[in-house]
Amino acid sequence: MIDTHCHLLWRIDDGPSSPMASVDLARAMVEQGVDAALCTPHYSTRFPTRTAATRARFEELGRSLAELGVPLRIALAAEVSSKLALSVPLEELRERSVGGFVVVELEPGAAAEVPVLVAERLRGARLTTVFAHPERCRSVRFDPAALDEARGGGALVQVVASCLVGRWGRDVAEGGWALLDTGRADVLASDAHTATGSVQRLRQVVERVGLRYGREVVDELTVRTPAEILSLEPARSG
Ligand SMILES: [Fe+2]
Repeated sequence: MIDTHCHLLWRIDDGPSSPMASVDLARAMVEQGVDAALCTPHYSTRFPTRTAATRARFEELGRSLAELGVPLRIALAAEVSSKLALSVPLEELRERSVGGFVVVELEPGAAAEVPVLVAERLRGARLTTVFAHPERCRSVRFDPAALDEARGGGALVQVVASCLVGRWGRDVAEGGWALLDTGRADVLASDAHTATGSVQRLRQVVERVGLRYGREVVDELTVRTPAEILSLEPARSG
């Protein structure tokens, strides 16, 4: 699996609290079948992370994983709040993109028009939006078609795997399954924060998605589309 959303960098946001906790999380991800991961530290009013600091931490983690023999390829972007995606200079978003893709969080209270506003602003700068947490967004749960115009313009929709087994309760789980059932989910991701958290159920959730939609759909959600985002050759599925 190629994971396009996780918080692997220590003491940058609400992710791991130490270098070893980051390595433990990386090992947990590998055990759950992840072989490449996009680090997406928050970029929001609450976590106004700077690219120089995250880049330095990212490179430090890369060296640690290599020294310790942890077989996880990593890339760096960010999880940008929809508010900042609509307001900061586009250069700030470009600096936090990977291969032209920007991961943008749809917060629970984001309005129904936010997806198309974000996607169009980024598209004007030749950036493609990957919407994170649509399952938690109340206006999307009320009307999943709120994503359709943005998707029609090339934006992608990322569902957090653990939501499907109740990480944020029943309503969010139903919202996540509804996105998959209606063909509006383009990628599955972990949103992992700690080694002992929801990442421990990642393999189980991916298997459950496979039972419901088949292996082809799982490969598309967890390998092929994520590989395009990271500009990676899919090494293997799993
Ligand atoms: Fe996240």
